[in-house]
Amino acid sequence: MTTITRADMFERELQKLYHAELEILDLHADLADAAASDEVRALFADHEADTVEQIHRIERIFEELGMESRVAGSPVMEGILAEKDEIVSTDAPPALRDLDVLSTGMLNERFEITVLDRLLLLATDLEISEEISTELGANRQEAKAALTEMEAIVERRRLE
Ligand SMILES: [Fe+2]
Repeated sequence: MTTITRADMFERELQKLYHAELEILDLHADLADAAASDEVRALFADHEADTVEQIHRIERIFEELGMESRVAGSPVMEGILAEKDEIVSTDAPPALRDLDVLSTGMLNERFEITVLDRLLLLATDLEISEEISTELGANRQEAKAALTEMEAIVERRRLE
């Protein structure tokens, strides 16, 4: 068993987040293709610019900390990607198809938020510069906004 420090954990989680964001570019494109409605398709297609900016923020953090920007896959992200593969190859009526697509998107945003919360907590404990917490906070805010947008569609359709 290896012992890790807070700094090691911060680096590991940042690599995990970096991997997730790079995968999300394809994930969102696949979810946009799989969506049944224009509304859901547009939601995933429109988030590409946000994801690219989130990737840049992570790269700036690696650089600021003098760390190599490396990716580390995680079983959770692999699971989300496997769920996506399953739903895109399943035939479902339009409403269910959109629900599948939105649920996978929400799962992914919640994962991002969870990793970001841990990074923000560790950043505070490690007394890492305010600038880095601001970058992490910006990614968290965008993930939360995307999650809220997806939840709102699911909720509105449930009531229709
Ligand atoms: Fe993201």
